[in-house]
Amino acid sequence: MLNITYLVTAGPTHEQIDPVRYIGNYSSGKMGFAIAERLAQLGAKVILVTGPVSLEVQNPAITRVDVVSADQMFEKCQDYFPTCDGAIMVAAVADYKPVHFSPEKIKRTDENLTITLCPNPDIAASLGKVKRKDQLVVGFALETAADEKKAMLKLQQKNLDLIILNSLGDHQAGFKYDTNKITILDSTGVVFTSELKLKSELAIDIVAKIIEIQQSRPGMC
Ligand code: C5P
Repeated sequence: MLNITYLVTAGPTHEQIDPVRYIGNYSSGKMGFAIAERLAQLGAKVILVTGPVSLEVQNPAITRVDVVSADQMFEKCQDYFPTCDGAIMVAAVADYKPVHFSPEKIKRTDENLTITLCPNPDIAASLGKVKRKDQLVVGFALETAADEKKAMLKLQQKNLDLIILNSLGDHQAGFKYDTNKITILDSTGVVFTSELKLKSELAIDIVAKIIEIQQSRPGMC
């Protein structure tokens, strides 16, 4: 049984434009939920901070924290991370949010409409910055082509221990699908590659790799 607590983020974030509209993406939350379930199955406590998804948590060892926007996800992650042994950042956080929220529904006119966006906080990078020696931070990289160089750059920029690359170019892989195909990299390069598999099966591989690293480092449980 694993005596650890992990923070997992999942799903998309929705950035509100007005009371009825938002900027979002097609993330289903399936990969993040599968990782949370696998960790809980092995005995870990899990804090699952999720954006809006239509999924249910099965294992009672998972504490589900529902959020809508990137700012809310950021805040919850800041709150929970210090009490965790690590974080797995699976959420597809919106990169930008509208500068202004319109409390009134924006009316249709014949003119062009410009909505000014500003960048959201990078949650993974913020945890990478403050992580202790005994904490791991794992990120995901979703690219339109399997690009290990880009993934490695992301790992370095966000100070991650591992990055999991999945390519939207692979058939049946990525957002919305039940299947995915991944490559895991650490600071030395590729440490794992998979076939196209169910996300629940990949969650087993991903969690095994994370636990292996956690247990191999002195000072970690
Ligand atoms: O930079 P990019 O969005 O490709 O990075 C992906 C990784 O960073 C994922 O692990 C994602 O959950 C995380 N991320 C985040 N906050 C953001 C953007 C990405 O935590 N604002």
